[in-house]
Amino acid sequence: MSKVLVLPGDGIGPEIVDEAVKVLNVAKQKFGLDVELDEALVGGAAVDAEGDPLPEGTLEKARAADAILFGSIGGPKWDAIERGKRPERGLLRLRSSLGLFANLRPAILFPQLADASSLKPEVVSGLDILIVRELTGGIYFGQPRGIKEENGERVGFNTYVYTESEMRRIAKVAFELAMKRDKRVCSVDKANVLEVTELWKEVVTEEAKAYPEIELSHMYVDNAAMQLVRAPKQFDVIVTGNLFGDILSDEAAMLTGSIGMLPSASLDENRKGLYEPCHGSAPDIAGQGTANPLATIMSLAMLMRYSLERGDVADAIEAAVERVLDQGLRTADIYTEGTRKVGTEEMGNAVAEALAQA
Ligand code: NAD
Ligand code: IPM
Ligand code: MN
Repeated sequence: MSKVLVLPGDGIGPEIVDEAVKVLNVAKQKFGLDVELDEALVGGAAVDAEGDPLPEGTLEKARAADAILFGSIGGPKWDAIERGKRPERGLLRLRSSLGLFANLRPAILFPQLADASSLKPEVVSGLDILIVRELTGGIYFGQPRGIKEENGERVGFNTYVYTESEMRRIAKVAFELAMKRDKRVCSVDKANVLEVTELWKEVVTEEAKAYPEIELSHMYVDNAAMQLVRAPKQFDVIVTGNLFGDILSDEAAMLTGSIGMLPSASLDENRKGLYEPCHGSAPDIAGQGTANPLATIMSLAMLMRYSLERGDVADAIEAAVERVLDQGLRTADIYTEGTRKVGTEEMGNAVAEALAQA
């Protein structure tokens, strides 16, 4: 029996997670999966109920689960509260407490959405990039950090730090994944300015020696941001640190048509994982029933593939998404002329039905 913990969170989180759970229930029945679902509070919803964005009870359930399906957290309501209690800190603590250091963010363009991308169809058609983002270190977690008074003014500071072992283990994940793909890895750094990434480049190069078939290249992050919109298909696997990976993955999302299309898996050393869309709680559209649930549904597919080791179920969910796109159904963010605009629920229902009928 596998235990999946559902953490809907804030804003559009509960709306999109509902649709993914619908698909999960169909998958359970169709494939006879022995999956037990539980649910808990996280983010702003947990702050409101218990005064903590990651209550002890939620963390305990997360530790006991084989996999976590996560919606999104945050929103203007909690932006002004004490820093340590912000919803975002709950997610960061969850990633760190569970050791989820490897964040896989696949940017894949479905051919049906070539016109939905803000780039020309020929630039993005056939796009299949995997961003491997280090998730529990770097400037997100480095100490010291804070805001202090110094010489009569306020000073804000963070520390960008990576240990050699942290760099080695994420490089290894990228190389292992690349071996199952096109065997090309681009390590993104700012080694021309920052010592921490100078060492990153060195360590990644050393680690690559164990993978002679891999073609390793290095790129500065500013150039990588530019190359991603100039000629994104030059990339196969991108491996980078926490902050650069956060930024580059939102950029890569737009190549696929919408941030609402980018799923993710955050894995520990033993295949336990947290699965979430790359986007946030989208306060501007929350409660309207218009959010795109596909990134969350495809995160569920990743959950099946990586944590439950059911690649067959993952393939079936992804095929169901494709069929719905073939039928011309589009949420507002990926809508183009000649297609049919649907809401969150109608999109989720269509995927669930396509899976049931597969
Ligand atoms: P966001 O990703 O929430 O939204 C950016 C834009 O993309 C908005 O216009 C939004 O409407 C749109 N969008 C996002 N997801 C969509 C979807 N599924 N369908 C259609 N449109 C979608 O980023 P933001 O506005 O910078 O942040 C809002 C809040 O979310 C903040 O509190 C932020 O900290 C939080 N956040 C949380 C996560 C997470 O939970 N992992 C990720 C990013 C941001
Ligand atoms: C993401 C988000 C988070 C991050 C925030 C909400 C902590 O932007 O998952 O991409 O920066 O990692
Ligand atoms: Mn982000």
